[in-house]
Amino acid sequence: MATGPFGKGSVPCSVMEIQPQPQARRPWGDASTPYEEIGGEERVRALAEAFYDVIEDESPVLRAMLPRDTTGSRQKLFEFLSGWMGGPPLYWERRGHPRLRMRHAPFAIGAGEAMEWARCMEVAIDRLGLAGDLRSFLATELTRAALQLQNRGG
Ligand code: HEM
Repeated sequence: MATGPFGKGSVPCSVMEIQPQPQARRPWGDASTPYEEIGGEERVRALAEAFYDVIEDESPVLRAMLPRDTTGSRQKLFEFLSGWMGGPPLYWERRGHPRLRMRHAPFAIGAGEAMEWARCMEVAIDRLGLAGDLRSFLATELTRAALQLQNRGG
């Protein structure tokens, strides 16, 4: 596999519509990838689960866009984040190119929805107790990603 933003073997930039910004140093901490820094598969799964828990607890706007049963949504986000963070590219292997812009086209995402997504992700990051560089990196890059997925004005 080509070299991705997190080094040899990670998902290549060319297959990611959403890319962390290339960095000379490691803005997420000491480990070679954010995936390792967070603590691997179990912790990435915990982040995806916490994110959807936050939506179910406190975000009627985002909840309304989702299916009644969010099991599949949770699994897809976990698989995506695994590869995006420099771990096993599970989404790519199992479901192909994420094509996030295309897959989000059915949902009206303006600035409000994008910032609400980013806010829920930050609450999830805090529920996991992430701190320091890893917290800043994930919050910044996932907010950037959410803003890139806007497909409506306002
Ligand atoms: C900007 C605000 C966003 C909104 C309102 C939003 C909303 C949604 C909705 C309603 C779904 C469908 C869930 C389902 O079918 O179960 C979805 C799917 C998904 N979203 Fe988002 N999303 C946003 C941002 C993001 C971001 C920033 C990422 C990645 C970092 C992301 C990753 C995904 C993935 C991987 C899927 C599954 C795609 C599929 O296979 O169907 N989303 N999103």
